[in-house]
Amino acid sequence: ALITLRQLLDHAAENDYGIPAFNVNNLEQMRAVMQAADETDSPVIVQASAGARKYAGSNFLRHLILAATEEFPHIPVCMHQDHGASPAICQQSIQLGFSSVMMDGSLEEDMKTPASYEYNARVTKLAVDMAHACGVSVEGELGCLGSLETGMAGEEDGSGAEGKLSMDQLLTDPEEAAQFVKDTGVDALAIAIGTSHGAYKFTRPPTGDVLSIKRIKEIHERIPDTHLVMHGSSSVPQDWLKVINEYGGDLGETYGVPVEEIQEGIKHGVRKVNIDTDLRLAATGAVRKFLKHNPKEFDPRKYNKAAQDAMQAICKARYESFGTAGNA
Ligand code: G3H
Ligand code: 13P
Ligand code: NA
Ligand code: ZN
Repeated sequence: ALITLRQLLDHAAENDYGIPAFNVNNLEQMRAVMQAADETDSPVIVQASAGARKYAGSNFLRHLILAATEEFPHIPVCMHQDHGASPAICQQSIQLGFSSVMMDGSLEEDMKTPASYEYNARVTKLAVDMAHACGVSVEGELGCLGSLETGMAGEEDGSGAEGKLSMDQLLTDPEEAAQFVKDTGVDALAIAIGTSHGAYKFTRPPTGDVLSIKRIKEIHERIPDTHLVMHGSSSVPQDWLKVINEYGGDLGETYGVPVEEIQEGIKHGVRKVNIDTDLRLAATGAVRKFLKHNPKEFDPRKYNKAAQDAMQAICKARYESFGTAGNA
């Protein structure tokens, strides 16, 4: 059944676990997420980005997610809109039937220019008033995702903040977070702690100076009742990087957010953990490997199944390590 983000995260907070929020764009990702949830008895958050809506079309995405709730009626599913650029975008998703939306007012509507506190609070409050009137949850974001190593947003495809970010944009301020939650009434708050979107997060395994779990603790101490969200939380598995490069790919050395650091975050108020890149890496590695080993094969169902199995294994591992398993 469809469920709101608020209901899911309240249960997660009461029972001290976190929930991975996987981005979905197609059938294989959707099945991977649902089958892993079914195997582990986990509640599900699936999220559609603007890119996903452009790729698959909003109606296809909506029906994919609704199909999931029909095929797995025993699993609660939150249908979440990722990184909404404006209240109008959030309104469209609410009308489509999403049970949760993210109003990302950390950037202006171009999704490139870091926004002022006043702009962010204003658009987020608008989205909250509208969404709550419809029984829909809202995730807000305070602070800008980006690397504490370089000050750059880090997304190789050009999404995210443009130009260099300052230290106080890259690390969410606990006092300002308290004010923001008070001013907007968000159900969940995405915070900046040094993670960034995409595969290139850290040039070496991250230490506390570039990935601030300490900041999560400080924010959680200040606003213990607010559900925190970690974006850019793919772990960038080294074994999948190796498979991709062994089978003709060309990805550079890079490191993600270690699962143990996410587990530490979950001990301190993190309830939603956004993951997209890890499923992309697993799917790409699996397809490359399958086609190399099966050069005569040309049925897309065969290599898409290989991709699905690889993604499903990642989903299952995250449900187990975040403590989501057993909570459906
Ligand atoms: O927000 C970042 C997610 O990884 C979505 O990426 O816009 O390429 O679908 P996308
Ligand atoms: P990754 O790129 O680390 O998977 O992050 C995804 C994300 O934050 C989507 O909102
Ligand atoms: Na989101
Ligand atoms: Zn994100």
